[in-house]
Amino acid sequence: MSENKRNALPLVSDDEMQRQQAFAKKTKEIVCSRYPAPKALVRTFGCQQNVADAQRIKGMLAEMGYGFTDEETDADLILFNTCAVREHAEDRVIGNVGALKHFKRRRPDAIVALCGCMMQQQHVADRIRKSFSHVDLVFGTHVIHQLPELLYNTLTRQKRVFAIPDSDGVIAEGIPFVHDGGVRGWLPVMYGCNNFCTYCIVPYVRGRERSRTPEAIKADLKKMLSQGIKDITLLGQNVNSYAGGMTFAQLLRELNAVDGQFTLRFMTSHPKDCTEELLLAMRDCEKVERHLHLPVQCGSDRILKAMNRHYTKAQYLKLIEKARELMPDILFTSDIIVGFPGETYEDFKQTVSLIEQVRYQSLYTFIYSKRHGTPAENMPDPVTRKEKGEWMRELLEVQESIAEEICAQQVGKRFVALAEEPSKNEGMLYLRTLCNQVVEAPGSTALIGQFVNIEVTSGETWILKAKIID
Ligand code: 5AD
Ligand code: SF4
Repeated sequence: MSENKRNALPLVSDDEMQRQQAFAKKTKEIVCSRYPAPKALVRTFGCQQNVADAQRIKGMLAEMGYGFTDEETDADLILFNTCAVREHAEDRVIGNVGALKHFKRRRPDAIVALCGCMMQQQHVADRIRKSFSHVDLVFGTHVIHQLPELLYNTLTRQKRVFAIPDSDGVIAEGIPFVHDGGVRGWLPVMYGCNNFCTYCIVPYVRGRERSRTPEAIKADLKKMLSQGIKDITLLGQNVNSYAGGMTFAQLLRELNAVDGQFTLRFMTSHPKDCTEELLLAMRDCEKVERHLHLPVQCGSDRILKAMNRHYTKAQYLKLIEKARELMPDILFTSDIIVGFPGETYEDFKQTVSLIEQVRYQSLYTFIYSKRHGTPAENMPDPVTRKEKGEWMRELLEVQESIAEEICAQQVGKRFVALAEEPSKNEGMLYLRTLCNQVVEAPGSTALIGQFVNIEVTSGETWILKAKIID
């Protein structure tokens, strides 16, 4: 029995991947005869998973003869990789797609394409079909690997191509990726989500959980290291339910053992699946970050239940305590939703009190956004947007003073940090510590890609100032 069948992986077959390769060759011929110097503009909205998808999309486009540009005026193909997680993200995409009408009028021979989570929703694809006739190609999240065939059809047929099959999702291995430079890289270990938090669209647009094999992940990691990437974030909607024949904690240990000096980060961890085994692996693995992104969403048990999160505030706090006991220097970050349907000011105050207890280094905060097709869509939501905005401001004030205190506590401490890129200030660099703190220090760009010792000289809310001491 083949490896794939034994693990029941929804792997795209080798035959299908070869068929796509053949399409890539044929598409390249057309692209290179149609445009003198074919260029694609790929714009990504949303999360790191989308960034990782875009790197593979670019890998396929490069095989089809495209170079890349950031300028609309140079582009023969414009592709937006979209996000559906909140209404604001969708509105931005719609505004940008509308603006492409002028581009298509000027360049009728160029291709306008849309993909990503937003397009996986049928009502959105229908709207594009009806109201945005300048869009030539729309494809969903489950057929990214078929881009060569889809682009071939778009270029050769006189009609628009829409490919949004319903699916639990697949795994397509062997797609080349284009790294955008820089020392950070994104490495998907699993796709999809089974959790169905009641506010969230992701399980509907990204399919069910499926894990890549440790071998495929390790091979990608080695390739990334050979390209000079030094800070690698393992990606999944819920990495703690990784099930590629070992647990996520075991996977971390395996990857930590790969030769070379690099940092391993991961996101996102769901508190309900965050085990002591994982915390112990973090403690033991010297390359794994001393930082845990552990989205709590809310501090009220009543609302956590309505969100379908499967933990209580007390259980969450216990987890934080355990992590601190094992790794006293660990820093935490989290995602917070303010104004979930039915949330009262008292519920909200529970969130504030949780934030005060945990003392996060930073927070990603969102006002609840109604998503079509989710259970929360139909829950009564009496609190006004204005009031939710006021709650948010209150929360951010509390968080800001906590972040300031955490930064101030770092002054005088020494860390190892990776020099990432030039800062916006002349002669300065941005670096990142194992705890995921961003640091600015004077230094030469020749240091970029190197791990250096630093001493923190002062702390602001978002950034530490330091000097390099070797
Ligand atoms: N409204 C607001 N925030 C949301 N998130 C996901 N869905 C929604 C929504 N409908 C937030 C959650 C999640 C993060 C990636 O986005 O906090 O952890
Ligand atoms: Fe959305 Fe919840 Fe899945 Fe995260 S765990 S992607 S919030 S459904």
